[in-house]
Amino acid sequence: MGAANQRAEAGPEKAQAHRPVLLESVLEGLRPQAGGVYCDATYGRGGHAEALLQRIGPGGRLIVADRDPEAVAAARQRHGSDERVTVLHCTLAELHHALDELQLRGRLDGLLADLGVSSPQVDDPQRGFSFQRDGPLDMRMDPGAGESARELLARTGERDLARILRDHAEERQARRIARAIVRARDAGSLPETTGALAALVESVVPRREPGRHPATRTFQALRIAVNDELGQIDGFLEHAIDLLAPGGRLAVIAFHSLEDRRVKRFIRRASSVGDLPPSVPVVPEEAQPRLKPVGRAIQADDTERDANPRARSAVLRIAERVR
Ligand SMILES: C[S@@+](CC[C@H](N)C(=O)[O-])C[C@H]1O[C@@H](n2cnc3c(N)ncnc32)[C@H](O)[C@@H]1O
Repeated sequence: MGAANQRAEAGPEKAQAHRPVLLESVLEGLRPQAGGVYCDATYGRGGHAEALLQRIGPGGRLIVADRDPEAVAAARQRHGSDERVTVLHCTLAELHHALDELQLRGRLDGLLADLGVSSPQVDDPQRGFSFQRDGPLDMRMDPGAGESARELLARTGERDLARILRDHAEERQARRIARAIVRARDAGSLPETTGALAALVESVVPRREPGRHPATRTFQALRIAVNDELGQIDGFLEHAIDLLAPGGRLAVIAFHSLEDRRVKRFIRRASSVGDLPPSVPVVPEEAQPRLKPVGRAIQADDTERDANPRARSAVLRIAERVR
């Protein structure tokens, strides 16, 4: 299992900065052209978006989106006066509706999703992603939507909690941790803060994995559950091909194996001929591949890994719409 939260907890960085991961490879993969139409579906603090803008020239168009209102505000502030840029507040799974409204379905030359959390989200204790910086147990990328991590813990049964910890983070101590959380809840002392949850987990996990806080996997699992991150990826991929123009390219950066597996399988499925009975002599249009993988999965080189701990678990996959 890769480490969304290992990445999230990676060392002290300049507050509010976010270094774009695999930037050169994203640009090589998407090949942004002057006058093209592109979408960065996970704006964050705009590192990738900025580089795209520099390449699409005065006649290009860039749609940027994020579910985090702070990222959206940052995008509006930075690009508000740039007529080439449209800023959307929506989730990956909702993106296709927003692009329909803009009449851009089937017109994107490139679509980027850089998954997971941004540095400003992790670095702000008030967002509740970090056990190294104590704050309210929230973890929502959009604090205005859905339930917080604390609300999730307040209503979820022990068995379901253990399943979340196992399925989303391969936590071997899932049952023990789930039991401790439910006991604390029953005793009226459900953790209110990230620090309190981390301490509770630490108190019941018998052995530490070297170099890893005992609560790392718990935080990763809860974050994925609170934000329905896997459902979001599926919802995004379901419409991604239709959003692209023929020849348009999809680039997705994943940060742990649960994410990357989904992207890899999606590209593989869409790049192969559908199941056909042997009696069908010619592959009909609807069974033809819709995507073509572009190269292999790309990971950061040692220089980028050393300079940016967040790049260590990143995997970039690129594919092109073929019809
Ligand atoms: C890794 S950061 C992106 C960083 C960005 N590429 C940059 O260079 O600054 C991920 C961003 O995606 C957003 N995000 C993650 N999952 C999302 C989803 N399902 N829908 C919309 N935005 C999402 C997060 O709020 C965060 O701002």
